[in-house]
Amino acid sequence: MSLYPLAAIALDDGAPATPLYAVSAAGFSAFAQDHGIAAWASAQDFKAQAGRVLLLPGANGLAGAVLGLGGNDDLLIFGAAAEKLPAGDYRISGDPGVAGNFPALGFALGAYAYADFKPSRKKPAARLLVAAEHFAEASRLAEGVCFARDLVSAPSNVMGPAELEAAARRVADAHGATVRVVTGDALLAANYPMIHAVGRASVRAPRLIDITWGDPAAPRITLVGKGVCFDSGGLDIKSAAGMLMMKKDMGGAAAMLGLAHMIMDAGLPVRLRVFVPAVENAISGDAYRPGDVLTSRKGLTVEIGNTDAEGRLVLADALAEADDERPELLVCMATLTGAARVATGFELPPVYTHDEKLAADLAALSVSEQDPMWRMPLWKSYDSWIDGKVADITNSADSAYAGSITAALFLNRFVTQTASFAHFDVAAWTDKPRPGKPAGAEAHCIRALYRLLVNRFGSKTS
Ligand code: BES
Ligand code: MN
Ligand code: ZN
Repeated sequence: MSLYPLAAIALDDGAPATPLYAVSAAGFSAFAQDHGIAAWASAQDFKAQAGRVLLLPGANGLAGAVLGLGGNDDLLIFGAAAEKLPAGDYRISGDPGVAGNFPALGFALGAYAYADFKPSRKKPAARLLVAAEHFAEASRLAEGVCFARDLVSAPSNVMGPAELEAAARRVADAHGATVRVVTGDALLAANYPMIHAVGRASVRAPRLIDITWGDPAAPRITLVGKGVCFDSGGLDIKSAAGMLMMKKDMGGAAAMLGLAHMIMDAGLPVRLRVFVPAVENAISGDAYRPGDVLTSRKGLTVEIGNTDAEGRLVLADALAEADDERPELLVCMATLTGAARVATGFELPPVYTHDEKLAADLAALSVSEQDPMWRMPLWKSYDSWIDGKVADITNSADSAYAGSITAALFLNRFVTQTASFAHFDVAAWTDKPRPGKPAGAEAHCIRALYRLLVNRFGSKTS
């Protein structure tokens, strides 16, 4: 069932469409000779450079278009065509040069624009007609990513904890999943003390969202996403520059909901659980303070070194519950630290796991799906940096360095029973656009994770 309307790709029903040729730089001179366009191309210095588009004039208007593939090493290169082609319907003519679903996927991802508050510059836009064999899977992936991008793009005034809950319910309802939500002071009775402590200062009540789907006897896959709908830093308030982009601090939750859509839409034979602690890290007379000590769901006591290290607190309560079920695979995704961006930049999220096989599989899939990530170490000797002075553990390590690693080590203190746990410290944002990856909100690593699950657990539908 469709969660997100994709205007940029449609099932090819044989209707008339402009031919779209995809040509590598190496193959271009032969192509130009065959089509009699060598002089036209040369006049525009078109040599099928990666991502360039050449329009071919005809007696009745547009006779065709050529997408340059360059060295043909970019699987999402059709995203450039989505951005550059004039409005109209297109059909790939000849070898797309890129395998399987990638032309349609790249096109759909490249066409994305956030248009809730003003019309997109890209409308009316180009549309790619896609053969049936590729349409369902490309749509599934693009819907999951674009749905997540929209949640991240939405400003915090329209994407608070209640609205994030509504978005989670939309995903669950689309696939007949069950939703449990614990809100406000009920978090205390239900033993989510740190989700409550972080979120209680906001007029918008904190909550724990818990989605369950699939056969209870199937392998258990659990996703946990940071849902901080705005991060002011709390009493350890952020600078203006540091706060400006903090609407995206629910990017982990958005991505996990996008991945949940892919899994449920494909009907993967797994038992899926999704936890989203949804809060606003706000400031009021009721705000939690530096120096406070919280007793977590797991029972570990946590001293607050910095109220701006809130993500790991809300995640810790959710991870502790997830860990109790000992899922086959536990995935956590969060815009957890600025330090991750310092280490690897926006494009390449750090991933942390003790599971060597999982690390190897993810490394391979990040390449084959062109969904980058990079393994960083859960460096053992830094673990003592998060020991507390008056409590078991502190949320702000005793060092200015290795901040993404110490945050990951913090989360790992709360996952003690599950064999396979991976944590992704994502930016949820693209600063330097690439084909299929427009500047702005992004859902990193979920296409690779989806493929991992399809490979490991098989698919009922495809
Ligand atoms: N949400 C931020 C991390 C962040 C900052 C993500 C910028 C993306 C871009 C997180 O809650 C935070 O403030 N982390 C602090 C931790 C520190 C106080 C130990 C950080 O990274 O500075
Ligand atoms: Mn913070
Ligand atoms: Zn945060």
